[in-house]
Amino acid sequence: MSFHDKVIYQIYPKSFQDSDGNGVGDLRGVIDRIPYLAELGPDMVWLSPFFVSPQRDNGYDVADYRAVDPTMGTIDDLQELIDGLAGHRIGVMFDMVFNHTSTEHEWFRRALAGEERFRDYYLIRPPAPDGGLPNNWESKFGGPAWSKFGDTGDYYLHLFDRTQADLNWRNPEVRQEMADIVNFWIGHGVTGFRFDVINLIGKEEQLRSSPKDVDPRVMYTDGEDVETYLRELHDASFGRLAERITVGEMSSTSIQACAGYSHPDNQELDMVFSFHHLKVDYPNGQKWALAPVKPDALKLKLHEWAEGMQTGGGWNALFLNNHDQPRSVCRFGDPAGYRAESATMLATITHLLRGTPFIYMGEEIGMTDPEYDSITDYADIEALNAYDELIRSGHSAAEAFRIVSARARDNARTPMQWDSSPGAGFTTGNAWLSPTNQDRINVATELSSGRIFRHYQRLIRLRHEIPDISAGSYRAWALEHPSVYAYLRDDVFVAGNLTSETTTLQIPEEFDHGEYLINNYPGPNYPPTSASLTLRPYEALALSKGETTS
Ligand code: NOJ
Repeated sequence: MSFHDKVIYQIYPKSFQDSDGNGVGDLRGVIDRIPYLAELGPDMVWLSPFFVSPQRDNGYDVADYRAVDPTMGTIDDLQELIDGLAGHRIGVMFDMVFNHTSTEHEWFRRALAGEERFRDYYLIRPPAPDGGLPNNWESKFGGPAWSKFGDTGDYYLHLFDRTQADLNWRNPEVRQEMADIVNFWIGHGVTGFRFDVINLIGKEEQLRSSPKDVDPRVMYTDGEDVETYLRELHDASFGRLAERITVGEMSSTSIQACAGYSHPDNQELDMVFSFHHLKVDYPNGQKWALAPVKPDALKLKLHEWAEGMQTGGGWNALFLNNHDQPRSVCRFGDPAGYRAESATMLATITHLLRGTPFIYMGEEIGMTDPEYDSITDYADIEALNAYDELIRSGHSAAEAFRIVSARARDNARTPMQWDSSPGAGFTTGNAWLSPTNQDRINVATELSSGRIFRHYQRLIRLRHEIPDISAGSYRAWALEHPSVYAYLRDDVFVAGNLTSETTTLQIPEEFDHGEYLINNYPGPNYPPTSASLTLRPYEALALSKGETTS
C-alpha cells in the first residue's frame, strides 16, 4: 500500500530540457534538472516514452521497447538518470505503450514480410463480405481504424494513428513479450509503470461492428478479458516487486471497471487514470467543439469518482494536467486575473482527495497554454487532423483555429519554461514547439517571487506527513454550494472557491477555530469559524480540527 502517501511528477522528455541545442529535450537534460526535481520533492518521476520511435505520436509509437531513441540519449544516460534520481529517493516510472506498436517495430515488419508468427501479434482481417472495411470502428485520431496491410488485400487495426498497429492480446506470446519487457526494465531498477490505454487490450473477440446507433467504442473498451490479462501481467512481472507503483490509463471507462482494475484484492493495478472530469467542457461529449465550463461541473465529476472509487474499493490517480490536456489553469482557472490563486486552488482540491496525486511538468509554476496565432504553430497529428476535419465540415478557418487552440494536446507540450530567454532555458537552439510567455512565467521568476511552486512543495509534504490525507476516508461537504468544492478527509477539511467571486461557506462545527494546514493566499486573514467562512477569489485551504474540539 505504499502508493497512498506518494506524489508523482510527469516529465514529457521531448519538452523538459534540451542538453545539446537541437531544440528537442533529452535524457541528459533531465539529468541536469535532478536538483530541481529534488527541491520540489515528488517520490517518483514518470517519464513519457523515450524509446526508439519514428515519433509520429511523439514516442507513443514504439519501435523498440528495450532501447532509447537516439534523439533522447543512450542507455547509459538512462541508467545515470535512474541512479541519479535514486540518490534523492526518487523512483522512476516508465510508460508502457502496450496496446499497439509502431508499424516500424520489428514484429510488424516481419508480419508484413509474411511471417505467420508475427502476423498473429496484430489484428489483421480480410475486408468485409461487401468489400468494405472489416468493421465500423474509428481511429481516435480521426478516420477509420483500419488500413491496408501491405498488398495482401487484408487490413490491420489501429485505434490511433495508422502507424500505431494494435496488438493481439489474445495471443499468449504477445502477453509473454509484454511481461518480458516489464521484467527487462525491472532489471534496470525501474519500479513504476504506467500502462497506456490499457483498458483497450480486451477487444471483442470477433472484432464485430457495433450494432446500429451504438458507439463502436463499446466493442473494444473495458472488455471482459482486460482484468484477466492485467492479473497475468501482474503475476508475471511487477507483482513480485514489493515497492512498486503501477497505474493504468483508462480510455472512456466507468467507475465500476476502474474499481475492479485497482482493487487491491484483484492484484491488477495500483491505480487508474480516468478522464470524465476533463470532459466536463466537451459539449455532448465532443472534444472538437467549445462550450463554457460551469464551475460546479468539475467538482461534481471529481466528487462522483472520489465517492464511487471509495465505495468500490479502488484507487484514483489524481490529476488535472498531463501531456494530452490543455493546461488546467486555462480551462478551470483565470490565467489573466488570478493565475497563482487559481493554479494553487486547483492543485489543493486535487491533491487532497483520496488517491495519488500526479503533477505534470510546469503546472508547479502555473504554466499556461501557448499564445499561438497560426495553425502552423501546432505539431500534433491529432490537432492537425482535427483542424482539417473542422474545415471539411464547414467551420471557418478562424473558428477551426479557435477550437484547435483550446483543445490541442500541444498546449501541454510546449517546452518547460526555466527562464525568460528566447529558448526559455529549455534550449539554446530552436525549440521544436515554441514557448510564448516565458518572459512572465518561468521557474527562475517563480522561485524568487512566486508562490505556486512553494504551494506544491507544501501539498507534497502534507501527503507525506498527514495520514488522514493519504489514508483517510472521503466525504463531500456542502455539495450543493454553487461555487465551492469542499470535502472532509476524516479530520481534515478542504475547501476551494472555484470562481473569481468572493463567497461564503458554512464549515463543519468541529473545524471551528481549526488550524490551517495550507492556504493559497499570503497569510489567512480571519479565523475559520463555522458560522461563515469567507473564501476570496479562487481561495483554497485545508484545516485540521481546532485544539478545543475533538
Ligand atoms: C494515450 C497517450 O497518453 C497519448 O499521448 C497517446 O497518443 C495515445 N495513448 C496513444 O498511445
